[in-house]
Amino acid sequence: MKQQIKVRSAFGHFSRNLPRHHPCFLKVFSCHSCLSRKIFFPFPIISSSIKQARAIHSTKNFCLNLLNFNSCVSSYHQRNMSSNRKVSSDMNAFQDQLNRASKIVALTGAGISAESGIPTFRGADGLWRKYKCEELATPEAFAKDPGLVWQFYEYRRQLVSSKEPNLAHKSLSVLEQNFLRNSPQRQVIVVTQNVDELHRRAEMKRVLELHGSLFKTRCTQCKAVKTNYNNPIVPALDKIELDELDRHIDPKDLPRCEKCTGLLRPHVVWFGEQLDPFVLKQAEGLMSVTDFLLVIGTSSVVYPAASLVPQAATRGVTVSEFNIEQTAASEYSKFFFKGPCAQTLPKALQIGETMISHWG
Ligand code: OAD
Repeated sequence: MKQQIKVRSAFGHFSRNLPRHHPCFLKVFSCHSCLSRKIFFPFPIISSSIKQARAIHSTKNFCLNLLNFNSCVSSYHQRNMSSNRKVSSDMNAFQDQLNRASKIVALTGAGISAESGIPTFRGADGLWRKYKCEELATPEAFAKDPGLVWQFYEYRRQLVSSKEPNLAHKSLSVLEQNFLRNSPQRQVIVVTQNVDELHRRAEMKRVLELHGSLFKTRCTQCKAVKTNYNNPIVPALDKIELDELDRHIDPKDLPRCEKCTGLLRPHVVWFGEQLDPFVLKQAEGLMSVTDFLLVIGTSSVVYPAASLVPQAATRGVTVSEFNIEQTAASEYSKFFFKGPCAQTLPKALQIGETMISHWG
């Protein structure tokens, strides 16, 4: 299936038709030289269903990306034709490599929470009311109608609060606990794109949240970040339903800063915003030291998270994917375990249900 990708920059527009999993989607926007030179990219960029990616950087670097964009079209076809790489789903071989690994990173996405009853972003149930996530999770949408954006986020806060971590979250926690108890020189760290805090609620200790948390707010004026588990967050946002009409909420009734009364916003990364540079640096640092990467329940199309898999893979790190379908990361995977990860992951990690229930 081909998709049209449009890039808009200060220097004009261009577009290309490319197959859905074309590596250009990775290469164009995850140009390592640009990233390392800290050129500003609009983060996160969606690549699979991409409509527009705004390239907001200098002419020189824009050219660099355009060059990469053009040059990898042919290399893709060459690689595709010559590729005879085998992806394995051999559990024993996976476990053999896992047992020899000491710095395990689990990169997770919405799919790991799917069996807790939380819809993914790009699945069939990805719409919220009539809106796509990308229409509401933006600074522009918040500037236009903060009440509507808060309804979307409060709905998700209420939904997530009513759900529990599943066996996939718990098996990673049990693995971490086993390492702490029996082999402290080994570590497992979760790097998640999820904002639902289910890894923490599953008692995972080492979690890096790339996109923030639904349960944190940030003041639009004084920038103070606060944890907030109030349910509802304010009375005007009580019992938000999917099938109700959009409420009109007076901005004075929206969440407000205790210190300066400024309007609060969810402390999550929106489309068009950059990740916290410190968080991104930590994630990239982990990719440079990990010796075993698990990629669980993510479509791997939102940048910069999507660039983490190729970063590790190009170092020769074994990538193992757990998903119900092939994704943009699959071309980097040595192991692919197809199916709901609440089933496949505990099995692969050899974490039985009794171990999970003893652990909590
Ligand atoms: P997506 O909705 O893009 O992808 C979810 C992935 O999970 C897909 O590849 C599904 O095939 C897979 N999946 C679904 N159910 C599964 C299951 N039971 N077991 C295993 N895999 C399953 O979600 P993300 O990749 O997390 O960003 O999306 C990344 C970011 O895009 C999100 O963090 C969010 C979104 O826009 C922000 O909000 C900033």
